[in-house]
Amino acid sequence: MKIQGNKFLVTGGASGMGRHFTLSLARDGADVAFCDLGDEGIQAVVAEGAKLPGKVVGFSCDVSKEDQVEKLIADAAAALGGLNGIINNAGIIRDGLLIKKDRETGAISKLSMKKWQQVIDVNLTGVFLGTREFAAWYAEYGSGGGVVVSISSISRHGNMGQSNYSAAKAGIVAMTKLWGGELARYGIRTGAIAPGFTRTPILEGMPPEMLAKVVQPVPLKRIGEPEEMYMTVKFIIENDYFTGRTIDVDGGLVL
Ligand SMILES: NC(=O)c1ccc[n+]([C@@H]2O[C@H](COP(=O)([O-])OP(=O)(O)OC[C@H]3O[C@@H](n4cnc5c(N)ncnc54)[C@H](O)[C@@H]3O)[C@@H](O)[C@H]2O)c1
Repeated sequence: MKIQGNKFLVTGGASGMGRHFTLSLARDGADVAFCDLGDEGIQAVVAEGAKLPGKVVGFSCDVSKEDQVEKLIADAAAALGGLNGIINNAGIIRDGLLIKKDRETGAISKLSMKKWQQVIDVNLTGVFLGTREFAAWYAEYGSGGGVVVSISSISRHGNMGQSNYSAAKAGIVAMTKLWGGELARYGIRTGAIAPGFTRTPILEGMPPEMLAKVVQPVPLKRIGEPEEMYMTVKFIIENDYFTGRTIDVDGGLVL
């Protein structure tokens, strides 16, 4: 599938990788709708997108809410005059150890249900809803090829302190595989990317000594760039014999 002239929806497009994917797709000639939570961030990306070859339109949507995602797909398809793909990028982190024993008091604290559920709702249910609604729309109205690209994480392999995040990101890998099988008959391919540490606002706030610690076990000795993740999004969109697989883009890091 070509990027130029096709129409994509990016979730979590106001910041970090999602912002980069939105603007890069429009730079490469696609029409792009994106969603995020806050209006201010959405307006800033729309303004930046105005000078690019492709159209950029923004919507407010919480990807964990079924009614909002249903509306988002309808609104995005109406604004762009169709849809060929969704980039399920929106994600959050609420880290914590499963249990932790206080050294002095011996008291046990537990990873809360709140933190567990928040991450599952956005990172797993959000991807499920985005893909389900895109696929339902495409099966009824779509043409020219459909593609679902979801952003997993290197944490999919199991990262300490991230029970919630690792479970959600591993779930994306399994759904990507089974959706590759289920959705092929409708002309929809799937793919996922599992980035390692990538330069986004999450890491920009990190003190240099902590960043050095993060990079130390990475064979390529640096963090990834959003453009390197976009190259992989592009590969999945453009390669018509690719479906159902997850690509690790992590500088060789093994967790
Ligand atoms: N940065 C990294 O090192 C890294 C590594 C691996 C995977 N990832 C994944 O890449 C994706 C993008 O991460 P990022 O680093 O660019 O983060 P980011 O925080 O810069 O961007 C995430 C965006 O998603 C939005 N968002 C959060 N909850 C939402 C919701 N319920 N509905 C709609 N939008 C919502 C946020 O407002 C934000 O704009 C995430 O799925 C993340 O888990 C990031």
